[in-house]
Amino acid sequence: MKIIVTGSLGNISKPLTERLVSRGHTVCVVSSNAKKRDAIENLGAMPAIGSIADVAFLTDTFKGADAVYAMIPLNFTEPDLGEYLRRMAKNYAQALKQAGTKRVVVMSGWAADLTRSENVEDVFDGLTTSLTIMRPASFYTNFYQSIDLIKGKGVIGKFLTLRYSGLWALLTGKTGLLMGNYGGDDRIVFVSPKDIADAVAEELTLNPQKTTIRYVGSEEMTCNEAAKIIGTAVGKPWLKWVLLSDKEMLQGLKMAKVPEKLAETLVEMQAAMHSGKTLENFHRSQPKMGKVKLADFAEEFAGVYYKK
Ligand SMILES: NC(=O)c1ccc[n+]([C@@H]2O[C@H](COP(=O)([O-])OP(=O)(O)OC[C@H]3O[C@@H](n4cnc5c(N)ncnc54)[C@H](OP(=O)(O)O)[C@@H]3O)[C@@H](O)[C@H]2O)c1
Repeated sequence: MKIIVTGSLGNISKPLTERLVSRGHTVCVVSSNAKKRDAIENLGAMPAIGSIADVAFLTDTFKGADAVYAMIPLNFTEPDLGEYLRRMAKNYAQALKQAGTKRVVVMSGWAADLTRSENVEDVFDGLTTSLTIMRPASFYTNFYQSIDLIKGKGVIGKFLTLRYSGLWALLTGKTGLLMGNYGGDDRIVFVSPKDIADAVAEELTLNPQKTTIRYVGSEEMTCNEAAKIIGTAVGKPWLKWVLLSDKEMLQGLKMAKVPEKLAETLVEMQAAMHSGKTLENFHRSQPKMGKVKLADFAEEFAGVYYKK
């Protein structure tokens, strides 16, 4: 099959491309960065350099393909994340229609139907193509964004340790934490992008006549259990995941100068996870868990953590 993979050599798209190439498919990878050409070719795929903001480019790229994996990269430089996601989803829908694509796998998220601003699945409703919506849980790779917090470095790190772990922790060097408006003993499904790549690779070769939704997860546990696994891998077995209220989280994001609309969207996404409703939906769909466990990822994480 000729398959288009958007998302460049990102967390999912790189292992996805590797899997598809190894199974003999002709793969074309979309990247906005011409410097990625060689790396894409080295995987045995063809690069298509351009932006998902460009409908004509997407249409040309999709023409003649048997299947498309369509993802929208999160863009935190956009002041209104919801409006950006909808704009990009409409670009995809228009290009898929114009190119006459027969099979599409769209990346969404497990909280999408519970978060007004994040949900753009409806944009694909009018398409006649065979469509699968992927709803993966919370990526292991999100922990990379918290490396500074886990290290507890600087004045802010010390202040947060003092506030949430107490003076004794600060004096004994037990600095660092994870935090969010989901956390503590909230049960969350975490997922490896490699397991998502396996699921997407499988879906791309199917051809369901009705739209399907597929949840993907690798391991379920509480946030504090996850913090312990990650913390132990980096020599901080005391690491905990502090649960903030929505209001505290919003205040924190505003103090960090995150634009208001974007901050509201981030708080809404995390609140859906704290509510337990994302987990309920996940359980209802009963997906088989993936192979890569958090302890496996924690080893990879430690390598990056110590280099930074
Ligand atoms: N994080 C989570 O917990 C979570 C949970 C559920 C769902 N999701 C969804 O998963 C997706 C993220 O997947 P991922 O982690 O595999 O992505 P990723 O690693 O962030 O990679 C996305 C790649 O897209 C490329 N890109 C950026 N802007 C572009 C543009 N305008 N045109 C073309 N390419 C562009 C970039 O590569 P180049 O620089 O080479 O262009 C970037 O590396 C998002 O849709 C997110 O909503 C995430």
